[in-house]
Amino acid sequence: MAMANIFKASTIPTFIFLLLLSCNTIIISHAQTPAPAPGLSYTFYRTTCPQLESIIQQNLRTVFASDIGQAAGLLRLHFHDCFVQGCDGSVLLNGSASGPSEQDAPPNLTLRAQAFAIIENLRRLVHNACGRVVSCSDITALAARDAVFLSGGPNYSLPLGRRDGLTFATRNATLANLPPPTANTSTLLNSLGQKGFTPTDVVALSGGHTIGISHCTSFTGRLYPTRDPTMDQTFFNNLRITCPAINSTNTTFMDIRSPNVFDNRYYVDLMNRQGLFTSDQDLYTDSRTRSIVTSFAVNQTLFYQNFVSAMIKMAQLSVLTGTQGEIRANCSRRNSNDLFILPTMENDQDEKLASY
Ligand code: HEM
Repeated sequence: MAMANIFKASTIPTFIFLLLLSCNTIIISHAQTPAPAPGLSYTFYRTTCPQLESIIQQNLRTVFASDIGQAAGLLRLHFHDCFVQGCDGSVLLNGSASGPSEQDAPPNLTLRAQAFAIIENLRRLVHNACGRVVSCSDITALAARDAVFLSGGPNYSLPLGRRDGLTFATRNATLANLPPPTANTSTLLNSLGQKGFTPTDVVALSGGHTIGISHCTSFTGRLYPTRDPTMDQTFFNNLRITCPAINSTNTTFMDIRSPNVFDNRYYVDLMNRQGLFTSDQDLYTDSRTRSIVTSFAVNQTLFYQNFVSAMIKMAQLSVLTGTQGEIRANCSRRNSNDLFILPTMENDQDEKLASY
């Protein structure tokens, strides 16, 4: 009798749903920590800059205490660095006589100016303490890690030892490597698949949109001239108020449930058809990724495990190591541009380390 009650007709669909979900969870939970790329290691600065991680975390605690929004800016900066030409700090470089920088390419125009300033300030603090031994790309990767952790997300160790690149990518290369918010799941799976990411990685990385803001122009194509039918009506009504015209310069939070907390509510948004971009919402529409979205929405630990694994993978894309590249003395300029001003740099450590 008891069994008969459990399997009442009305509860069977729920039971099957939970069963499928738990099977799915078992499949998705095999998130392995990626091995360090050749040349990177978890102990890279153990003797040359043991204070590195505490300097960064301490400074970011202060920054975020006055404006937690900066965490989102730093996370996105690291993503844009790594996807274009690898995690080589190329996004930090100013333009030069050779052409406009990556920063001038459309996807990077909405990176926060403050994020660049925070990275350069961290570099100054770190180089003052240890000398010019730590790269801007490592500092950017650590800042993104702490942005996640200090917003309430998971903490994780990062293999270090990246070197800074000597060149930046063209506008076309930047556009080709950063998918637009209008991309559907096929485009995302294809584009990120070429970089070695699985569908689970793609869904997990998209969870970066659990913090931060977007400009209206990134999604007004879903509001005008008519509502994207995959968008919830109330969500649409509110967005039309925030973005009263197709070219409105306003911004809105990306995760309406908990905009400043690094949690799994972004996936709950998607299940409620309250994802901001096509690239977000389509992850729930597409049958290949829908169950992954659901599994992260019901299990935050599972999301965290997969996010960390995908982030470590992302943080190791085409890294420069060993004698490749350089350790920049200023994150926005390659050293060879300032050959003549090197001796007057901010502290005498720089002269000692001029060979980097
Ligand atoms: C998968 C494809 C992705 C697309 C199409 C995409 C697109 C975008 C767009 C259009 C914005 C808003 C820009 C604006 O209008 O101001 C944005 C913001 C953001 N993205 Fe992504 N993104 C993607 C992946 C990622 C990944 C992998 C991460 C990090 C793991 C990430 C983290 C962020 C964050 C934190 C913000 C908010 C930035 C801020 O508040 O300053 N995104 N993204």
